[in-house]
Amino acid sequence: MTMTYAVAGAQSASQHPMSARLDAYVANNEFDRPTLIVDVDRVEEQFNALKAGLGRADIHYAVKANPALEIISRLVSLGSHFDAASRGEIEICLSQGARPETISFGNTIKRPADIAWAYNAGIRLFAADADEELEKIAEHAPGSDVYIRLIVEVSQADWPLTRKFGCDKDTAIRLLDVAKSLGLNPVGFSFHVGSQTRKAEMWEPSLDALAEIWHAGKAAGHDLTLLNIGGGFPAFYGEAIQAPTDYAAAVMEMINAKFGDVATIMAEPGRGMVAEAGVIACEVLLVSRKSDRDVHRWVYLSIGRFSGLAETEGEAIRYQFETPRDNDAMGPCIMAGPSCDSADVLYEKRPMPLPLTLKAGDRVLIRNTGAYTSTYSSVCFNGFPPLDVVCI
Ligand SMILES: Cc1ncc(COP(=O)(O)O)c(C=O)c1O
Repeated sequence: MTMTYAVAGAQSASQHPMSARLDAYVANNEFDRPTLIVDVDRVEEQFNALKAGLGRADIHYAVKANPALEIISRLVSLGSHFDAASRGEIEICLSQGARPETISFGNTIKRPADIAWAYNAGIRLFAADADEELEKIAEHAPGSDVYIRLIVEVSQADWPLTRKFGCDKDTAIRLLDVAKSLGLNPVGFSFHVGSQTRKAEMWEPSLDALAEIWHAGKAAGHDLTLLNIGGGFPAFYGEAIQAPTDYAAAVMEMINAKFGDVATIMAEPGRGMVAEAGVIACEVLLVSRKSDRDVHRWVYLSIGRFSGLAETEGEAIRYQFETPRDNDAMGPCIMAGPSCDSADVLYEKRPMPLPLTLKAGDRVLIRNTGAYTSTYSSVCFNGFPPLDVVCI
């Protein structure tokens, strides 16, 4: 049966029209478990749109966002480079024809055995933010290029990456010296302004602070040739975002103005490349109220925090849900996943509007879920199978 879906909640008219291919595929297929459907042509479109704005910067797709082989192989054919977080991600890239010199091992927390493995596979570019990490790289990947990750202390991103990663100015400049003394080649710095930074202008305060460190590094006599500007490029989750080419061009304009002449610039989009290329099809398992006085209905889906929707943590990412009943009257719902874990609640602080007629068995589509869903899905928590992925 073919059903039409309307978007629940506001959608800016300036956003990309929904993928007709995705809609057709979803309408013509049944799914016996939560399934992410990815339109690989749409990934290509995003790559081209970002590339048009990024200009001379090399795109290193952040594989962690979605490592589906079809996505990686398409990006290889488009000339993308890759940011890999682990041996597993490097293996995926190589298996799809990526050349080792296009892959950077961007995790600052690496197993020595994996560094050695990557070095033997031809990887020569590594990230670090600490002395011990540099020592590991020097021992297992001697002579390699390294970039030092800088801490981004204040982020305006919906999914910030502060605190856990990077180091401050003095440490960063000292680590350049340490790298050199260990026989490594310290080529520059990296940073990440935080994932889902909705507007390019939100980068500005971070870039001011980071550019100061770049110039201090150069003034200290380091021949810095590489700047890795990380990810942060947003996807549409209901709140207005800048279109990808405009956004990337605005970022590059700021980078050029603040950092000056940099020989090599890398960008590592993950979410901005794949999120809008994917839709999850799942179903309602239960609609209930805890008491007669309960003001909110509870809507339990067949997918939850542990089966793909991890980014609902702190209600940070608010997905867009569509049902075949969206033309009916709406009311606020607490949304939860199917597992026997009380942390498996998706939205409670800010309930989600859903049709009052919604009931068990109804299909639910979750838009723009191509990033950070399949990779966050547990293997078999509570016996539920991991999120299935279909690439079209
Ligand atoms: C080192 C690094 N680069 C790039 C990315 C991708 O970021 P985004 O999905 O915001 O583009 C991440 C995300 O965690 C990251 O850790």
